[in-house]
Amino acid sequence: AVPFILDTDSAQDDCVAILFGLLDPAADLRAITMVAGNVGFDRQVHNAAMTLAVADKVGACPIHLGCSRPLMRAWEGAEDVHGDGSGGLSMDVPDGMVSNEGAVDALLRMTSEEPGELSIVAIGPLTNIAAACIADRTFPQRVKSLYIMGGSNNGRGNITAAAEFNFYVDPEAAQIVFDAGFSDVVVLTWDPVTLTDALLPRLDYEELCAIDTPIARFFKALCDHTLAYDESVGVPGSTHPDSMTLQCLVHPELILAEAPYRVDVETTSALTRGYSAMAWDKFEATANARVIERADSAAFFARLRALLETHTRPV
Ligand code: BDR
Ligand code: CA
Repeated sequence: AVPFILDTDSAQDDCVAILFGLLDPAADLRAITMVAGNVGFDRQVHNAAMTLAVADKVGACPIHLGCSRPLMRAWEGAEDVHGDGSGGLSMDVPDGMVSNEGAVDALLRMTSEEPGELSIVAIGPLTNIAAACIADRTFPQRVKSLYIMGGSNNGRGNITAAAEFNFYVDPEAAQIVFDAGFSDVVVLTWDPVTLTDALLPRLDYEELCAIDTPIARFFKALCDHTLAYDESVGVPGSTHPDSMTLQCLVHPELILAEAPYRVDVETTSALTRGYSAMAWDKFEATANARVIERADSAAFFARLRALLETHTRPV
């Protein structure tokens, strides 16, 4: 199984990614690190804890609390998109799921214990990853691969016309990460990959939501709010970029096309804050990332169906 740390702002599809990390036999999820992003920080922690409970995996994976705001800016969430990130669900979760060790310390320690062995899947703003790079400049060399959900490949944003949410929230962190010298960075974008290959049309979504398991009911609670938001802004289905990013690490055959790019993130303009310039390496400077151009939608959603059909103890 593929060992990795999941850096997340757990709401909606982040929680689906956590489910994959916990229940896909090919995934070896070692730790969850929490970063400020989608919804209030404490709510994100509760969403992650509930996800562990629904998966019947309490105690299987520690949650480490990380940066509670971006490096240089005030936190801006996306509660209009996500609500509270779990469809208003509340459930008692056992004590002790949150580690005393902070996220940045955990990232530095775990990659020191197993240098070159652990990958990171970063599906929120890149604040924790940048902070780890700042705290220890040898950190990037110890990470096997860094998979990032963020940016658009010179296409549409989703929080502004120019920017995708994760890069918009902490553009300085994103630029630090792209400059940090990780040996293998893989990027899954909002446009085009999420809007084509990680998009579940409503009818298929409803079919998955009808599966009679606690996990499928949880999935519906997570994703209904976001689907309604996406449809209100013209996105024709339920979007799953975070879980697709994780699956591309664990099952690399899902990546149907990729190319080396030089990725840079806009940090000075107010209008285009967080815009990702993705320059095809043929024309531009040295590549710093592999950017996914096509992913296997059918294989991904078959895996999602299998995940939702998994029977756990009712919670
Ligand atoms: C990304 O932003 C968040 O709203 C989602 O969790 C995803 O990581 C999509 O732009
Ligand atoms: Ca996310």
